[in-house]
Amino acid sequence: MQEIKIELTKNPKQKPQDESKLGFGKIFTDHMFVMNYDEGEGWHNPRIVPYGPIEMEPAAMCLHYGQSVFEGMKAYRTADDKILLFRPDKNMARLNVSNERLCIPLIDEEFGKYAIEKLVSVDRDWVPKAEGTSLYIRPFIIGIDPQVGVHPAKHLLFIVICSPVGAYYPEGLDPVKIYVEKNYVRAVKGGMGFTKTAGNYAASLKAQDEAEKQHYTQVLWLDGIERKYIEEVGTMNVFFQIDDEVVTPALQGSILSGITRMSSIEILKSWGMKVSERKISIDEVAKAAAEGRLKEAFGTGTAAVISPIGELKWGDDIMKINNGEIGPLSQKLYDTLTGIQWGKLPDTMNWTVEVK
Ligand code: COI
Repeated sequence: MQEIKIELTKNPKQKPQDESKLGFGKIFTDHMFVMNYDEGEGWHNPRIVPYGPIEMEPAAMCLHYGQSVFEGMKAYRTADDKILLFRPDKNMARLNVSNERLCIPLIDEEFGKYAIEKLVSVDRDWVPKAEGTSLYIRPFIIGIDPQVGVHPAKHLLFIVICSPVGAYYPEGLDPVKIYVEKNYVRAVKGGMGFTKTAGNYAASLKAQDEAEKQHYTQVLWLDGIERKYIEEVGTMNVFFQIDDEVVTPALQGSILSGITRMSSIEILKSWGMKVSERKISIDEVAKAAAEGRLKEAFGTGTAAVISPIGELKWGDDIMKINNGEIGPLSQKLYDTLTGIQWGKLPDTMNWTVEVK
């Protein structure tokens, strides 16, 4: 393992006093991890330094052409003050999937995990304690060559920042209302929908803004060709319980391979439930809702955790799901997943990693 230099801050910030008011992603810890890539040298100079502005030229390529990838992970504080990460190996593997698609030099996944553990260890006092809170970890890579021609960068930065957070949605665990998007699309097969890259989120802003104006929390994306098959929700994957089958869209190149999605599938299957990763059309969901067979719907994501969906609006069709209340399956899945993450339940799947 390369040695990580550590420069501790001389001006530690005050930590949030009221953890019930953290919100999501507005406060940052005292330190960040930084590593450079330069052609010929590879990834080098890993360091933990005080959190602060980074310098780059106005011509830096990521600012113009979006050669930028990121991950989202969390650290959790247990009742006996251990700090746990959840499946960090999966985040590092997915970061390299995004890297590969965006012509970004791959990182050493073991080293990436080690760097994140070190950073969280340095900032461990920032991992909040209150029920439902965690430390959100945001690794990202940007191309910084000062160059206005469009080419893969030869100089990049890998940075990790951390933020103590509460629930992503103001609704918390109350069901969210979702707007089924008919006009805009997020991604198409062959594009970058399966990666965590900044541009996918830029593509979502307009639809998100219009949905919010109509008092919907997020949009549900349909496929980019037929506008028929369900893809994912703004910041989460999506699941529907129709009769006794739990259905989630298959990974076919245009949606994100969520780690909470993967874990939810594994948990549901361990309960003996029928879980199908398949194509599912919005018509199928609307028909099931009209026939009273759509029992529950929920989103999954690192930020969103398990987020029940209480209403779907598709054109004039407003589908109320489980009377707008959280259903037993979403609740049980939330309790189980967060139980493992916060160390309240035995980690029989070996998903958590303790930060020393
Ligand atoms: C996450 O769930 O970690 C994400 O990256 C979603 C984010 C855009 C808030």
